[in-house]
Amino acid sequence: MTDAKQPLPIRLAMLGTGKMGGILLKAFLAHGVLLPENVVATVAHAKNADKIAAELGIQATTDNLEAVRNSDVIILGVKPQVFPEILAKISPALTPDKLVISVAASVPIGYMEDRIPLGVPVIRSMPNTPAEVGAGITALSPGSSTNERHLELAQKLFDTVGKTVIADEKHMDAITGLSASGPAFVYIILESLAEGGVRVGLPRDLAILLAAQTVMGSAKVVLETGKHPALLKDQVTTPAGCTVDGILELEEGGLRVTLIKAVSRSAIRAKELLFS
Ligand SMILES: NC(=O)c1ccc[n+]([C@@H]2O[C@H](COP(=O)([O-])OP(=O)(O)OC[C@H]3O[C@@H](n4cnc5c(N)ncnc54)[C@H](OP(=O)(O)O)[C@@H]3O)[C@@H](O)[C@H]2O)c1
Repeated sequence: MTDAKQPLPIRLAMLGTGKMGGILLKAFLAHGVLLPENVVATVAHAKNADKIAAELGIQATTDNLEAVRNSDVIILGVKPQVFPEILAKISPALTPDKLVISVAASVPIGYMEDRIPLGVPVIRSMPNTPAEVGAGITALSPGSSTNERHLELAQKLFDTVGKTVIADEKHMDAITGLSASGPAFVYIILESLAEGGVRVGLPRDLAILLAAQTVMGSAKVVLETGKHPALLKDQVTTPAGCTVDGILELEEGGLRVTLIKAVSRSAIRAKELLFS
């Protein structure tokens, strides 16, 4: 995560400012990477536009075409199912000097490029909701008209909400299953660890704090030491100690297989969304 010192000299339109679009916009504005007067947000319902305008101090509207006309960078933050309609709507205002960034699951770069004018640069991205606290991870895949400058610009934007990686588009559904759906899986694990604490007598608040800090700390060790999680697990597991008894329960309960299947199922579903 970086703290932008200078706002980027761009006008940005966020088309679809729901959970993900809202998290990103708030972070871009909070970090000063964009000036409020250079940002327009769109939503489907006028009353939601009014709410966003009041909350973020930016222009908000239901007019996607007008928003695109007045912007240099367009982030597509709508659901995959809305893409056919929204691409048809904004296509007349898209020119090669603009940059389109999609945050949607499921929608291939080729699908977007086929529906907008030739030469308009497109980047497919996959952020995740921990972006809300600057601890997100975003994968970026360049399209056929994207150059280094476009990628750098996208990286500058998404670096404000956590880490950014460049990935081959063929991995995007897998990335969706792992890091975009992943926070939901981890919250369930975290909630369950806390429930275990409650079962053995801890007050709920303390149990949640212990579980959350343990999940966060363990992840931090993996990221900062680069050590394999299996090796780190072995360091906690004293022979004939208490951890190994807990691990036996995890193995009997099929935790590993369940998580592997959860990521796989989510990745398969990610392929289907656009056409569902
Ligand atoms: N949530 C996640 O964890 C996550 C993570 C990574 C990527 N994504 C991607 O982010 C995208 C949005 O997901 P979300 O969870 O943020 O969904 P969401 O909360 O339902 O937000 C969708 C937004 O799109 C707006 N919208 C719908 N039709 C529109 C139209 N024709 N023009 C302009 N705005 C329109 C909605 O407006 P109203 O509010 O007025 O209905 C709403 O603000 C999806 O493509 C998803 O794959 C989500």
